[in-house]
This record gives sequence, structure tokens and C-alpha cells, in this order.
Amino acid sequence: MFCLIFRNFKSILIISTLVYLAIQVALYLKIFMNDSFTPVLLWWTPFMPKYDRLIDCGEEHYQCISSNNRDHITNVNLGALLYYGSQIENHDFPLPRNNNILWAVFHEESPKNYAPYLYENIQMLFNLSSTFSRNSSFPVPLQYLTNINLLIDLTYYIPLRNRHGDVETSSVLYVQSDCDTPIDRDKIVKELGKYVKIDSYGACLNNKTFPLSLQNIDPLDLYNREYMTFISKYKFIISIENAACYDYIT
Ligand SMILES: *[C@@H]1O[C@H](CO)[C@@H](O)[C@H](O)[C@H]1NC(C)=O
Ligand SMILES: *[C@@H]1O[C@H](CO)[C@@H](O)[C@H](O)[C@H]1NC(C)=O
Ligand SMILES: *[C@@H]1O[C@H](CO)[C@@H](O)[C@H](O)[C@H]1NC(C)=O
Repeated sequence: MFCLIFRNFKSILIISTLVYLAIQVALYLKIFMNDSFTPVLLWWTPFMPKYDRLIDCGEEHYQCISSNNRDHITNVNLGALLYYGSQIENHDFPLPRNNNILWAVFHEESPKNYAPYLYENIQMLFNLSSTFSRNSSFPVPLQYLTNINLLIDLTYYIPLRNRHGDVETSSVLYVQSDCDTPIDRDKIVKELGKYVKIDSYGACLNNKTFPLSLQNIDPLDLYNREYMTFISKYKFIISIENAACYDYIT
């Protein structure tokens, strides 16, 4: 999943969230700094472009430098170290830690990408966080929801009374291609498959093939009209995250 983030749709959302996180870090720093000071926000995990960028932080005219360049670790203007959760390596923290430099983490992806973060004492390492958890400083559990009204949207809803006669379609759909997950969801689906017929189109437990027109749809094109129309024929859709963690949904 992670390697796909630079696809347009998702990257716009991610970058806006990151800018937001950077602004919050900058506003936090501003409390301690005078106006002429330009703090450096150093992405310790290689996530943003490497070159230094001057970014606007907050509503007032206030700027900071956002960079991936680790040479800034000795910069006297260093204000915060930013980490991208899915790319944190346990052996790669700048130690000894300087407690005046904030550590902030952005971890919107699956908890499975950095399992140590499931533990409270690892979460406590960071002064600011933006994660799927409502308990983080700036929670982003609904980041891919483009509009809150989608939660009650009926565009693709087919009432039960209109479904009769659709004998070709079994009533349960499963579409997953990440089959080796900490939660072992395929096991549950396989067991359920002993009792009800399940159409499985993804790589996991595959027993159906998408129509040609659907085969080249980007899996991250979450609201694709044709795909939505196709899956709406099903009465039930199995939806299980790849990791079980409080507040984690996609
Ligand atoms: C950041 O968190 C660490 C670990 O809890 C703490 O020691 C440090 O004082 C905090 N730094 C700031 C600037 O709040
Ligand atoms: C989140 O915070 C609330 C209130 O402080 C607490 O009751 C709850 O246990 C926390 N949940 C997690 C998953 O940390
Ligand atoms: C796959 O196909 C078989 C035979 O049609 C069916 O019994 C089963 O429920 C299907 N789904 C899964 C997930 O095994």
C-alpha cells in the first residue's frame, strides 16, 4: 500500500494532511520563538523531497523550512524532527535525544506497517502525533472520506425488493489482494465460505474474475463509478482491515 501513495488521488490527501501537521508543529514552536526566527522541520524519515523548502505555517505570516536533508540535525535552528510512521526503522533515531527538539509523527497508514507503535511507550516517544487514533494530537481516521455525506449516501444502494431474480450473483462479495496480514482475515472468510457462497475477485481466495472493463481500475480509485455499480449488486460485502487496532479504518 505504502509504495502507491504517490498516485495522484492519495498523494493530494496525504500532502494536505502533512502540511497541516507541519503547520501545527510550527504553531507550537512559535510559542517559544521570536518572529525573525525560521525553524527547520526535518523529516527524519525520507518522505518529503530532499531539498529545503520554505513553507507558510499558520494564518499569520510565519514561515519555516521543511527538509529531508539530515545535515540539518546540527542546525541551531532545528525545531522539530518529523517521522513518517510507515517508514520508521527502530535502529534509526538520532540519539542521544535533545529534549528541546520536538518529535512529531505522522502515521495514517495501517498499524501493521510499524508494529512497535501499538505500544504506549513507543507512542510516548513523540511529542505530537497525527494518526488514525482519536487519541493522537491531530487524528486523521477519516482522511480518505472526501465528504461526510458519503456515509449516508444512497447512490449505489439497491433496495432488497429490486434484487429478486438476480440468481447469478451470490450475495456475498470479498475483494482483497493483501493475503498475508496480521489479522489473518482470509481464514475467517474461508471458514464462512463453507456455509455461504462467496464471490472473491481479489488475489486472496480468488474464485471469480472481474469483467474486462474493471480489470484495469486503480485499486486506490476508491469511488470509481463503474466499480461501485458492480459491487452494489451484492447484498453483503466483507470488509476486514489488515490489522486490528483501535480506531483504525480505511
Ligand atoms: C518531548 O517528549 C520527550 C519524551 O516524552 C520529553 O522528554 C521532552 O521534554 C518533550 N519535549 C518537548 C519540547 O516538549
Ligand atoms: C483514548 O483516550 C480515552 C480518554 O482519555 C481513553 O479512555 C481511551 O482508553 C483511549 N484509547 C486508546 C485506544 O488509547
Ligand atoms: C469460492 O468458490 C466456491 C465454489 O463456488 C464456493 O463454495 C466458495 O464459497 C467461494 N468462496 C470462497 C471465499 O471460498
